[in-house]
Amino acid sequence: MTTEATDPHPNANGEPMISLQHLYKGFGGKPVLKDMSIDIDRGESVVIVGGSGTGKSVTIKHIIGLLRPDRGHVIVEGEDISTMSPVELNRFRRHFGMAFQEGALFDSMSVFENIAFPLRRHTKMTEAEITARVEECLEQVHLHGVDRKRPSELSGGMRRRVGFARAISLKPQILLFDEPTTGLDPVISDVVADLIVEMDRTLNTTTVTITHDMKVAFKIADRVAMLFDGQIVEQGTPEVFQRSTNPIVRQFIEGRAEGPLTEEP
Ligand SMILES: Nc1ncnc2c1ncn2[C@@H]1O[C@H](COP(=O)(O)OP(=O)(O)OP(=O)(O)O)[C@@H](O)[C@H]1O
Ligand SMILES: [Mg+2]
Repeated sequence: MTTEATDPHPNANGEPMISLQHLYKGFGGKPVLKDMSIDIDRGESVVIVGGSGTGKSVTIKHIIGLLRPDRGHVIVEGEDISTMSPVELNRFRRHFGMAFQEGALFDSMSVFENIAFPLRRHTKMTEAEITARVEECLEQVHLHGVDRKRPSELSGGMRRRVGFARAISLKPQILLFDEPTTGLDPVISDVVADLIVEMDRTLNTTTVTITHDMKVAFKIADRVAMLFDGQIVEQGTPEVFQRSTNPIVRQFIEGRAEGPLTEEP
């Protein structure tokens, strides 16, 4: 059912940035990904949507090597990360900036120390260089005057921004967002979605976002892909996706209770 023809980013000049090839992954005998494939081009912003428990987070965890496929390959920048050793993976993860829901910030540390953390861990930057880089990152997410505060003192939207600032601190080429707006009100969700668009453009990253929120998806995606029953069942530009006649996509976009999504796959 995959609509190859609607892919707006044909790989005219070489390999995709991220290539998930025929991934199979199950837990305790229950298959989650079943021959799942998608290519994501350099600079592209892809949003993966799908129902709860369909394997969206599992997919993103494969991209950063937190999970290994039972079968298939995860190729990032031409390297197969599904077979890398833990040491190689650790080095490779510097390509990625990852922001989870709620930011997964350290509450015992200030905002400054949260953003400085990857720099202290992975670089030999001096204190002055770290300070300058943290400032730059805070600037990028439009946060001012909060570096001495604890994450718990900030609003939900501001905590997301801190999470984003930390995700970009090592200047990754790939940004991954898992449910970046979940739990935020519609207005702040929209502001956070705008920020993702801005970061994707100004930092020139390849961006993969997972969300339930179709408004957010349509705003930030060059391409929306829908995961259902372990596979990408539809993909295309927001315009094309919105016009899809696939009953699974229609039910999801329209948020209806009746339809193929309601049945357990
Ligand atoms: N480490 C794990 N061990 C066992 N089962 C897992 C593990 N990770 C995920 N699963 C299972 O795989 C399925 C897909 O999980 P996943 O977290 O990817 O869903 P999701 O699409 O991100 O859903 P949600 O929208 O609720 O975040 C679920 O049934 C989940 O219970
Ligand atoms: Mg998830």
